[in-house]
Parts: sequence; structure tokens; C-alpha cells
Amino acid sequence: MILIARTLYGLEEVLAGELREIGAEEIRTANRAVIFKGNKRLLYRANYLSRTALAVLMQISEFSIKTKDDLYRNCMGIDWDRFLKQDQTFAVSSVVNSRIFSHSGYPALVVKDAVADWFRKKSGKRPSVDTSDPHVIINLHISGSLVNISLDSSGAPLYKRGYRRASTQAPLNEVLAAGIIKLSGWDPSSDFLDPMCGSGTLPVEAALMACSIPPGKFRDSFGFMKWPGYDPGLFEEILKESEKKVSLPKMNISGSDISGEAVKKAQINVRTAGLEEVVRIRKADFRELKAEGDSGFIVMNPPYGERLKPEALNELYSMIGSALKHNFPGYKAWIISSDKEAMKQIGLKPAKKFKVYNGPLECVLAGYNMYQGSRRKEEVKSKK
Ligand SMILES: C[S@@+](CC[C@H](N)C(=O)[O-])C[C@H]1O[C@@H](n2cnc3c(N)ncnc32)[C@H](O)[C@@H]1O
Repeated sequence: MILIARTLYGLEEVLAGELREIGAEEIRTANRAVIFKGNKRLLYRANYLSRTALAVLMQISEFSIKTKDDLYRNCMGIDWDRFLKQDQTFAVSSVVNSRIFSHSGYPALVVKDAVADWFRKKSGKRPSVDTSDPHVIINLHISGSLVNISLDSSGAPLYKRGYRRASTQAPLNEVLAAGIIKLSGWDPSSDFLDPMCGSGTLPVEAALMACSIPPGKFRDSFGFMKWPGYDPGLFEEILKESEKKVSLPKMNISGSDISGEAVKKAQINVRTAGLEEVVRIRKADFRELKAEGDSGFIVMNPPYGERLKPEALNELYSMIGSALKHNFPGYKAWIISSDKEAMKQIGLKPAKKFKVYNGPLECVLAGYNMYQGSRRKEEVKSKK
């Protein structure tokens, strides 16, 4: 099987690493995607275990076209009853970037017609289209003259983990939160703190990683469960194998927020994920927070511009910089923000930076090292 895991911009390498650990072979990264080879077992595992995939697609056909008619003709050549039964429903989702089609919605209609005509010709009956809850989602990707047809094995996107019952304003996408934590290089033997935790996405994702709890554990279903040939025994085996690896972490994982409302919501989400023993959430203004150890990781997603005036935003980011410097010596801090001007107010030099997107917003994820004493002293110490 050729499998394609879709992800967010900037997380391709992280996802490739995860898939390698899950057992993928012949891995190659593309724009917002990782392509790899595998079998049914790997398809189930990638859906259940990968923290940074948005969806896992199984390629069913790849071909080149010169005209609109070529798309229909090639689709009629696919053996559709391997993937869909005539009494099932289907939908076609498409991403089209091609001069052959002036209207981007049109190619999906061509594929729908081809699927319907293929079944009608074969048996006189055809599967119906259902865009809200189809049994099978056919994914059409056209780039120039190259057409890729695949099935979406995930169904609802994989960032919909199922533990987020309560939401504050601007919560992070769970896949982005997991990706940020992986990019930060957090090693789950260090303490983890998100001092502006909102609905708690970052501490929950960190705790899931630290406990080796599969991100798919809270979902009721995956798209592949409705496919002809679904193997529930195999899926059950994967569940059992991963259950054996779950363990309680030794480090502290915590979140705090200035808003009592956010704290309540984060606590609900922590409870829904079954992590009350692992994640501590409390109400605190970051300005007054002090480190509880000599080292650790801070990963935070402060408010960005939309709801705050520029002066208030600059003041907030400048406070973040000075609180990090004075109250968290020995820590590594990672901040994601779309506001490059406000980021300058932090007043610390990032040791590392990544470009990521939070929805449509281009963001920087910047990493800072807070030294005990001055940086010079730290360097002298490490040379001794
Ligand atoms: C963008 S939201 C974080 C969203 C969060 N990552 C999530 O996934 O839900 C920013 C949060 O920072 C909090 N905040 C703003 N100023 C703060 C301060 N001085 N101390 C602590 N939290 C603060 C806000 O209450 C808000 O919940």
C-alpha cells in the first residue's frame, strides 16, 4: 500500500520520525504530507498512534491527464468494488491546482459521476452520495496534470482527539500542539509547564506523550472501520499492544492561566483525558509564577493581536521576557506567536526558530535558553 499522511506546514519531518517509529518504510516528505509504504496493520497504527498526522490516506490510483475527459476515463478504469459496496454511501473531497479545470469543484463531480456510472454499468445499482457522514471518503488531488486518488482512512480529522470537551477562545489544534512539543525537543524526563494554558491542549498533549497514551484512544471511530475488509481483530490487537506501553511519568506536567474560566475548562479536558493524576492545572498570573526546579521546559501560546491593543500586547510580551529571565533560570522556553513585532518585546535572543501555521496565521515558534547567571558564566562552566 502507498499511504499518505497529511499534516500541517512545518511538521513534515516530525511526522516522518513518528511514522518511522510506528514501522513505516520508504518514507518521503512532501509539502504538508509524508508518503510511505505499509500494510493494513500500519494503516491502523498510523491512525491510532500518530500525534502529528491530520489524516492518513490510502492511494488507489495515480495517473496523468491532458483533458477533463481523461479524468472520467481513468476513474472508470478503477475497480471500485474493492473499496466501496453498492449499498454504501460516499463523498468526494478534492484539492485541485490545475489549468485543465477552471472551476475547482468540477473534478469532484466528474469522479462522483464516474463512481456512480461504474456501479450502474456493473449491477444496475449505485452507491449514493452522503456529504455529512459517508461510509467512504474519496480524496482527489490534482496538481497540474498529475491526478492522485486515495481513500481517507481517518474519517473525522485526527486532531479531533475526543478529549476536548471544553474550549476557551483560540484553542490550539491538537496536532499543532503535539507538533510544537516535538519541535521543542522536550524530553519527557524534564518538567513541562504551559503558563498560559487556556483549554489545556499543550499540557494534555505533553502528558499523553509522557504516558505513551495513544492519541486515538478517545475516538469512537476511524474511517477505515466502515471499509469493506475492515479487520476488527487486527485493530483490537493494536489497542492491546499499545495499552501495555502506558505508564505514569515521573516528571511534573502542569498548566496555569490567569483566567479562572480557562482553568475550569482545562481541568475538564484533563479529566476527560483521564490525566488528573498526571497534569496539574491552577490559576496564576505568569508575572508571579516562580520555577519549582532548576530546569524544565516551558511551552506557551500567549494571546496574539486580534483581541488586544498593540500597547497591551507589547507590555504582555515584555513581561513574558522578563518573567522568563528572572523567574526561570535553567529553563528552556518555547513561544508560538503570529505577532512578530510583539515577539521582539520579549527581549531575549532565540536559540532556535521554526515557521508554523496556526490555522491561516503564519507563526514563529521561538526557543530560548534561560541561563543560570550570565550566558558567559554558563559557557565558562561548560568548558571546564
Ligand atoms: C491563545 S490562549 C492559549 C490557548 C491554549 N494554547 C489552548 O490550546 O487552549 C492564551 C491564554 O493566555 C492567558 N493569559 C493572558 N495573559 C496571561 C497572564 N499574564 N498570565 C497567565 N495567563 C495569561 C489567557 O487567559 C488565555 O487563556
